[in-house]
Amino acid sequence: MTEPRPGRTLIDAETLRARVSELAADVSRDYKGRDLLVIGVLKGAVFFIADLVRELTVPCELDFMAVSSYGSSTHSSGVVRILKDLDHPIAGRHVLLVEDVIDSGLTLTYLVRNLQSRGPASLEICTLLTKPRHRALPISARYTGFDLPEVFVVGYGLDYNEHFRGLTRIAELDGAG
Ligand code: IMP
Ligand code: MG
Repeated sequence: MTEPRPGRTLIDAETLRARVSELAADVSRDYKGRDLLVIGVLKGAVFFIADLVRELTVPCELDFMAVSSYGSSTHSSGVVRILKDLDHPIAGRHVLLVEDVIDSGLTLTYLVRNLQSRGPASLEICTLLTKPRHRALPISARYTGFDLPEVFVVGYGLDYNEHFRGLTRIAELDGAG
């Protein structure tokens, strides 16, 4: 068996850059005059967040959570464990939760429920990618970068067993079972 590796490009770097700019413009328009708190989900969303917040025209604070969803390397189980919690409370804050990809929706459903219980003034989701055909739970994002077919992808923060996050494009993973 050969090692899985990045294959066909689904989204190239220039297309990513242009779409992230559009999302930043949408977020900037919607949060004008509000105290925006951007919460990133480590580690996959880091590249996306870094590019997104640099294009925001509204002030924002940043915080991060790390979660692990148990399961195989290409399928999540829905059992989520918090590895790193937020540094600060979010009560009364306008929170934008930024994710790399919504697949089954299990991870985000858990996170949204967890964050809602902390009493934010508002909570919206911004995801770079979504695979709507694979959804097990009905969750949708206020801001979505791209719809993907039901394939496993790597690059621009997304990994396969911690590999390939640094690719500047989003590529389909070849050779994974
Ligand atoms: P969900 O719980 O099935 O929605 O999965 C969400 C998490 O699984 C994401 O935050 C990613 O960490 C991971 N994931 C889902 N699909 C992919 C993919 O195509 N490539 C890399 N990671 C993925
Ligand atoms: Mg992730």
